[in-house]
Amino acid sequence: MQNIFLIGFMGAGKSTIARWLHRQKGMRLIEMDEMIVRQEKMSISQIFETKGEEYFRKLETDLLEGLGQQENTVVSCGGGVAMRQCNVDAMRKSGKIVYLSASPQTIYGRVKNSHDRPLLEGNMNVEYITKLMEQRLPKYLAAADLTVKTDGRRAEEICGEILEGCEL
Ligand code: S3P
Repeated sequence: MQNIFLIGFMGAGKSTIARWLHRQKGMRLIEMDEMIVRQEKMSISQIFETKGEEYFRKLETDLLEGLGQQENTVVSCGGGVAMRQCNVDAMRKSGKIVYLSASPQTIYGRVKNSHDRPLLEGNMNVEYITKLMEQRLPKYLAAADLTVKTDGRRAEEICGEILEGCEL
């Protein structure tokens, strides 16, 4: 089975859906943020604070390029991964790219109490989320082989659509 890369905005449900595919379909699971945290022995917020965003983006790219040999794996990507064309190229080489979409209101409801997303610290409101999402949307859509809406839907339903859309 080929690999699935889940892309989309923070709080779109990438981790939840990746875990479901792991548990129900036996796919191997890679959570990019978690791998980076383990590798750097620092939280994402600490990496942004001490090393800067560019350093973090390079870690994401290195990680993706190292995933080329994986099979039957679902990768939950950080929300910024699809912004770099080299990342999109690396993903496309080894699997299908699925964009999980959600409205800014849904996203806000899911992330409002979390403090491990440096881009939203001090910007935790629907207006900011809407603005950043509008900036990113063209790249998410251009990268995606498949777009799946997540607003108000259960994981099982979303995963069914992904598996069907990816012909898995
Ligand atoms: C980011 C999303 C985060 C994390 C980092 C940057 C982004 O991951 O990689 O805070 O640029 O959208 P999640 O999408 O898993 O929250």
